[in-house]
Amino acid sequence: MGEVDPAFVQEQEHRPKLSIIEAKGIPVIDLSPIFHNEVPNPSDIENLVKEIGSACKEWGFFQVTNHGVPSSLRQRLDEAAKLFFAQSLEEKRKVARDEINPTGYYDTEHTKNVRDWKEVLDFLANDPTLVPLNSDENDDQFIQWSNPSPQFPSHFRAIVEEYNEEMEKLAYKLLELIALSLGVEAKRFEEFFKDHTSFIRFNHYPPCPYPHLALGVGRHKDAGALTILAQDDVGGLEVKHKASQEWVLVKPTSDAYIINVCDIIQVWSNDAYESVEHRVMVNKEKERFSIPFFFNPGHDAEIKPLEELTNKQNSPKYKPYKWGKFFVHRLHSNFKKQDEENLQIYHY
Ligand code: SIN
Ligand code: FE2
Repeated sequence: MGEVDPAFVQEQEHRPKLSIIEAKGIPVIDLSPIFHNEVPNPSDIENLVKEIGSACKEWGFFQVTNHGVPSSLRQRLDEAAKLFFAQSLEEKRKVARDEINPTGYYDTEHTKNVRDWKEVLDFLANDPTLVPLNSDENDDQFIQWSNPSPQFPSHFRAIVEEYNEEMEKLAYKLLELIALSLGVEAKRFEEFFKDHTSFIRFNHYPPCPYPHLALGVGRHKDAGALTILAQDDVGGLEVKHKASQEWVLVKPTSDAYIINVCDIIQVWSNDAYESVEHRVMVNKEKERFSIPFFFNPGHDAEIKPLEELTNKQNSPKYKPYKWGKFFVHRLHSNFKKQDEENLQIYHY
């Protein structure tokens, strides 16, 4: 130990700063007007929509409290995740992902071609999920992705399914608030989520002997619509603040969820809201766990700037693309370590 594996070493300019000045941080938004009031008060909703709109504009990230997800469920999920990662590598690899079906366990992933200091278990929200076999526009063959079975502990599966339902509920609510904040109908985005391809990821970041050189996850933007992240109390997630271009640590807030606007909302809003870069620091002493829920559309959803939000002065900035084809393309380039900016390919 103590030896540095060059695969994990970030280039100088991307290495984390270990003495972090904690900024005010991303906004914390109280969702009780929609989850705790039997009859929502219209002026409370209006204020909430304004708050969400400003958070999306300034940060692309915010935390939510009073979100309706039972904290006991989250605790049970956290415990199940810890038990899973505590198993031997041999045991975990029994549910390893592969290039055909990327659900399951893996301990090797590269972001921007540098290896991430983490191990991961991916779990589909809709099991099985139909996805295009490849990213060729003219090829309409589909394959089924499924969650690991039969070795997978059944109690774990039951908890994840329960959690998934809660995540879906919260995601749809947040999408409505975001739609309203953009000035479009609350349910405007719902149609894109028929047979959605969302998934839940379990991240484990073991202690790292050289946290000044490596990252748990290198800088990146999320490709889907929304991410709902549960992080533990260790901390490590950093967000690039748009105005200052500084990396800002997202302070753990107990029982809150971290929400970020991802690439698809950037496209729908024609850049009114931007998908923001983030990364994960690791540390020498403590391991860290996080559980993102990636809310992704159905594979045949066509993604393009909304007509209501574009006009002559503000013409569409992106070409239409099919989510499923893009997703498969990205997955393959990731396996081949050919990392590229997600939206670059669709920009006019
Ligand atoms: C990610 O953005 O992929 C992970 C976020 C985290 O672990 O906090
Ligand atoms: Fe991310």
